Amino acid sequence: MNVNDDVEFYQQHTKNSHLLYKNSLNLFPGGISHNIRYFKPYPFFVKKAIGKYLIDVDDNRYTDYWMGHWALILGHSPKNVSLALSKQIKNGTLYGTVNNASIELADTIQKLMPKAEKMRFSSTGSEATMYAVRLARAASRKRIVAKIIGGWHGFNSSLLKSVNYPFEIEEGLGLDIDSKYVISIPFNDIDLSLKLLNQIKEDLACIIVEPILAGAGCIIPHNEYLQRLQEFSKKYNIIFILDEIVTGFRLSIHGAYKIFKLDPDLFTLGKIAGGGLPIGVVCGKNEILSLSNPIDKKNKNLICSIGGGTFASNPVTMTAGLKTLQFLKNNENQVYSKIDNLGKYTRKELQKIFDENNIEIKITGIGSLFNIHFLNEKVKEINNANDVALADKEKLRLYHFALISRHKIFFLPFKMGAISYQHSKTDVDYLLKSTRSIIDSKIL
Ligand SMILES: Cc1ncc(COP(=O)(O)O)c(C=O)c1O
Repeated sequence: MNVNDDVEFYQQHTKNSHLLYKNSLNLFPGGISHNIRYFKPYPFFVKKAIGKYLIDVDDNRYTDYWMGHWALILGHSPKNVSLALSKQIKNGTLYGTVNNASIELADTIQKLMPKAEKMRFSSTGSEATMYAVRLARAASRKRIVAKIIGGWHGFNSSLLKSVNYPFEIEEGLGLDIDSKYVISIPFNDIDLSLKLLNQIKEDLACIIVEPILAGAGCIIPHNEYLQRLQEFSKKYNIIFILDEIVTGFRLSIHGAYKIFKLDPDLFTLGKIAGGGLPIGVVCGKNEILSLSNPIDKKNKNLICSIGGGTFASNPVTMTAGLKTLQFLKNNENQVYSKIDNLGKYTRKELQKIFDENNIEIKITGIGSLFNIHFLNEKVKEINNANDVALADKEKLRLYHFALISRHKIFFLPFKMGAISYQHSKTDVDYLLKSTRSIIDSKIL
């Protein structure tokens, strides 16, 4: 078999999607509304998502490991969330004023993550990270923001730097940003990171870091990298921001900060916190968040107006988030032991299959998250985004596409997979069997 067979097979089985994609090219740049959603030759269009499945407009049913950008820890449309949503929708979708559901969700978040002394809801994670950085600049009265090479914090312009290989192109043009105030440091290389930070520490407002590099390839921190960054921050009064938009409620119900024993000044949540609806949350120390308190007119500290936006705290998102977190809380052991064990099993067995076939790969991941990296003469270890970029990405693309085309298993090509509470060992065994079959087809 050759790689074109998979493409042909896909095209034959996704004819309606092809027509829709042609239409969407007339409407959206690139035919998509989020850059990473495109894959060759065209993405399939979904008409329904339920449990662990996506069903496309040609009635193909895919077992989904992308799970809504990793947001759907309970799977698609879990019953308790759907029921609460249908009730809420009858009572209104956007009050445009305060509501009790937002208190309930915030209170639940705070009890699970007490470091959220105060918080603000927004509609996307991109806004939450933007607010975090603005708060940090306001609180410190310093200008420079340090981020990680390959770190992804959404489409907010000040953090759209050093996201994609070769990590040098300016990706945030359009708003008035001066990118000389954003510096990038290499994940897992603490010596070089500290050296770079040391040079600018006088004007360094904050360090923003994902606990695991998620979008960049599912890379876990080694050798106390995060702790050492935090140590540096505390020593020089630099605000330490943890972007937990992927990891919050994913690695543990108490966040990655608990797992890695961190004490962030600010942290951001999103994805799972919205229960499948749009959300961002900026959380953290009262003294920093209070810089945005607009009430007390005499408040000399009011120096950072952060919004939240039209749809912030809308009762639909609040309800979905609340029902999701309540479910996680009430079934904590059951949910996390299931998805984490499945994650461990997947990583171990996938590695074994490739090893047995003498295909050099490295599986990265933690808990219910995992990704595969095809090694080559340039890359033998996966420690940072550069390693991921230099690994054999074409093989990864072929592998993910073969899973989609032949086996109806959906990973967004290149991106890490996430196991949800809806997945079972049978699903993972099917993934393993499909992987064996792809290896046997000799396309890798
Ligand atoms: C770590 C991280 N931060 C921020 C964001 C941005 O969130 P949103 O897409 O909701 O704007 C993402 C999105 O994937 C993310 O992975």
